[in-house]
Amino acid sequence: MRYAPIPNSLFIKNRKKFTAQMKPKSIAVFNSNDIYPIGADSTLPFEQDRDLFYLSGADQEETILLLFPDALDPKHREVLFVRETNDHIAVWEGAKLSKEEATQTSGIQTIYWLTEFKKVFFDLMTEAEVIYFNTNEHYRQAVETQTREDRFIEKCKKDFPAHQWAKSNPILQEIRGIKEPEELELMQRACNITEKGFRRLLSFIRPGVWEHEIEAELLHEFVRNRSKGFAYQPIIAAGNNANVLHYVENNQECRDGDLILMDVAAEYANYSSDLTRTVPVNGRFTKRQRQVYEAVLRVKNEATAMLVPGTLWAEYHKECGKLMTSELLGLGLLDKADVQHQDPDWPAYKKYFMHGTSHHIGLNTHDYGALKTPMKANMVFTVEPGIYIPAEGMGVRLEDDVVIQETGAPYNLMKNIPIEVDEIEGLMAQK
Ligand code: GLY
Ligand code: MN
Ligand code: MN
Repeated sequence: MRYAPIPNSLFIKNRKKFTAQMKPKSIAVFNSNDIYPIGADSTLPFEQDRDLFYLSGADQEETILLLFPDALDPKHREVLFVRETNDHIAVWEGAKLSKEEATQTSGIQTIYWLTEFKKVFFDLMTEAEVIYFNTNEHYRQAVETQTREDRFIEKCKKDFPAHQWAKSNPILQEIRGIKEPEELELMQRACNITEKGFRRLLSFIRPGVWEHEIEAELLHEFVRNRSKGFAYQPIIAAGNNANVLHYVENNQECRDGDLILMDVAAEYANYSSDLTRTVPVNGRFTKRQRQVYEAVLRVKNEATAMLVPGTLWAEYHKECGKLMTSELLGLGLLDKADVQHQDPDWPAYKKYFMHGTSHHIGLNTHDYGALKTPMKANMVFTVEPGIYIPAEGMGVRLEDDVVIQETGAPYNLMKNIPIEVDEIEGLMAQK
């Protein structure tokens, strides 16, 4: 791995939190992601399944984690199955986890080779009554491919029809939503790498630069700082491109007088950061650009202050809508009649701000986390209001990642990343 080793105490704690919620005589199994084929003999880079990583730290393909807290033999209460290496794999792919390394990484004492899974699993299933399956219940999931996990579930249902089934996902949604100190450190590191990338850009952006050149600058800075690269597909959108919310072509020239919206951030050790900044291509905001920018910044600051324990996600979004409505009235983009006659299901502000203000962030950019119960300390959310005005050829979004505290305002993991107009203009003037 490119990242520094993570203390296995994190994964030991994570497993404890998961198994504490398991039913008596139950087994939970977690599978790696597949390595996805492109065609011929090429594949996409491997990305570990985030739940398996969260519970074991194992960042290798074809790994299986089995948790069985009531196993009669204590050595089978947690077992990690890893791919056995051989001389051929060593020459073509390089080092794989040895059993000792797998223990060191995960804190799990019992490591078996993957080839032993079938036999060990059958034996343990004869002791168990319930099997936990790890289905994807993220509120925005839209998966069409069959995962390794899906294939496992299908086979398991066929082979063990008399067992009861249970769901891992609600437990994971709850526990993954609240970050441990070790996780906050990794996320801070991802944010710090993102900061380096963004600062590099401030002296690089000028009229005539192409969006993909900006992407290349960021990738250079991210990778040299031990990141695999972007935490999600980067959006580098000059002028009207900013009004396409998921613009990822990044293939246009940046023109004098335009703003450029950049939703770009690094991953570190599989943890995401998620940043958006919008800056003037020529280094100076026009009066109108500055007005819109400062309206977005005010909404962001006021929204951030609402992220405290007890806040309900849905209520918070309603309040953010009200803040935005008042700014849009101030900018002359809405008038009072628009607001008076608005459809409560699609309020007038949605014309200029059509996405949510916040999402959980962690091992996934749009992470797991409770959304229907009150917010708790150590949840990490983005705050990302925007105003999109195609008629004026501009879109402004600002986004930081913040940690909810027991008391007081949330802690901004991106507090060192320039955001004030004067600071941005000052740094861009230093070419
Ligand atoms: N970059 C994805 C998002 O901001 O949610
Ligand atoms: Mn973003
Ligand atoms: Mn985001």
